[in-house]
Amino acid sequence: MDLRGLDMRRLPNHVAIIMDGNGRWARLRGKSRIEGHRRGRASVRAVVELSRKLGIPYLSLYAFSTENWLRPKDEVNALMGLLRHYLAAEQPKMMRHGIRLLAIGEKSRLPAPVLQTLNQAVRATRKNKGMTVVLALSYSGRHDIVRMVQGIARKVKEGRCAVKDINERMVSGHMETCSIPDPDLLIRTSGEMRISNFFLWQIPYTELYVTPTLWPDFREGEYVQALKEYQRRRRRFGRTDEQIDRGLSSLVQPGGLENRI
Ligand code: IPE
Ligand code: IPE
Ligand code: MG
Repeated sequence: MDLRGLDMRRLPNHVAIIMDGNGRWARLRGKSRIEGHRRGRASVRAVVELSRKLGIPYLSLYAFSTENWLRPKDEVNALMGLLRHYLAAEQPKMMRHGIRLLAIGEKSRLPAPVLQTLNQAVRATRKNKGMTVVLALSYSGRHDIVRMVQGIARKVKEGRCAVKDINERMVSGHMETCSIPDPDLLIRTSGEMRISNFFLWQIPYTELYVTPTLWPDFREGEYVQALKEYQRRRRRFGRTDEQIDRGLSSLVQPGGLENRI
């Protein structure tokens, strides 16, 4: 792996990936869509392993959206089967590499055997300190926001918080992603220029990177390219270049989180 030109001191703290293009990858080869999903596994491995090696603390993977439930039953079933199989098969590796697994999304919609394997993997890896992999399954950014509103409204109704005390930090604290920082870099494969209901609240100043490469072809080299591109970006958070050049140490991101320039 050629890591030359990658500045190890300026790596993102949190990378999020919309893993798209499995179906097209398969169609181009005259294979079934399921085969595309199957091939995506090696790409997942590649980005997890390289993130771990580089010391990137958080990696979020969008694996299944709430809208993906609308796909043909056979495809959904096959995806769920693959998911369960991967979660079980990759667990020893997660333990070896100190990877903590978190899952976000409407887990109650997952078939019982998948949910069981998922919960088991999350439980088994909960004390791992190497890095955190966040799996977004049956996830919807809008649904996450709706749940947050419900949670805060309940607190107000019960008199546990005043309307005037609602702030960005509190909103972040009621999202499913409450325990993880906002992504610095969001990668989408397959060339689509959209968010497809992934993180909405969490990406106000996230750097976006879209590559035409289809997910099963996205491996270490492509990932390094994305990280290098990220390092070429100037993150201004609304300020001027001159302010950034002066190296203001007190730059603050929306939500009051400390900026990592
Ligand atoms: C991404 O690949 C995997 C999931 C959404 C589950 P797709 O299955 O969306 O592949 P394309 O976009 O049809 O090529
Ligand atoms: C987004 O991909 C969801 C995941 C990658 C899990 P889709 O293939 O579902 O997105 P659209 O339909 O092209 O927007
Ligand atoms: Mg797609």
